Amino acid sequence: MRKFLIAGNWKMHKGVSETSAFIESLLATDPTPAVDVVVSPPFTSLPTAAMLLTGSEIGLAAQNVHWESSGAFTGELSSEMLVEIGASWVIVGHSERRTLFGETDRTARDRARAAQQAGLKVIYCIGETLEERESERTFEVLESQTDGLGALESAELVVAYEPVWAIGTGRTASPEQAQEAHAFVRGCLERAFSTERAESIRILYGGSLKPTNAHELLSKPDVDGGLIGGASLDVDSFSAIIRAAAECAAGE
Ligand code: PGA
Repeated sequence: MRKFLIAGNWKMHKGVSETSAFIESLLATDPTPAVDVVVSPPFTSLPTAAMLLTGSEIGLAAQNVHWESSGAFTGELSSEMLVEIGASWVIVGHSERRTLFGETDRTARDRARAAQQAGLKVIYCIGETLEERESERTFEVLESQTDGLGALESAELVVAYEPVWAIGTGRTASPEQAQEAHAFVRGCLERAFSTERAESIRILYGGSLKPTNAHELLSKPDVDGGLIGGASLDVDSFSAIIRAAAECAAGE
């Protein structure tokens, strides 16, 4: 019922020429209708990416957005500006934004709401730190991070569960740990929206997802795709993850 979504979060990698080369190679691979694909280059590469992706099914995400439409916010960009240059998605609340740039649940929700109002689809990131997991506070953290999401439009919302201890560390959540967290998050979404809506919201796993572990993670019932950092920077490994999702969609 939920279509797989594979999203590449490039972080601060790939300027305009590397972006062009990557997208041209990606467009040359066989499209897989069973899987939605999104790429998220840095801001300066978005216009080029948008141009190259015109007419393709691949979505384009920005990595951050401000909640106001315009104003004295040095260094920020608005949803309207992102829409104008052809972005259709935005990643909000990534753990790097939370730990390095002061993002909070409140600001992440404000960004998400403004983005949706401007017509952007949102990938909303949550996840516990190692210390929180080890002190058995994972569920408590996920509950508070999803609190208030009910104010968003569920049809344009994707949640990414990214345990902070697994991001860029090579340490992946086991499929069982991912499924347990995803099922818990779906329960939170049921309370925020309704059972029916929660069933339709995709929950992505992120944190050292790569071709060698994609299939086992994506075959879990509540894992509806992935938000991929490191392994999304190489077309072959990104494509291999898309293929793994297509196999899972086909029940293989
Ligand atoms: P990673 O990053 O795949 O490199 O662990 C995931 C993310 O930060 O979204």
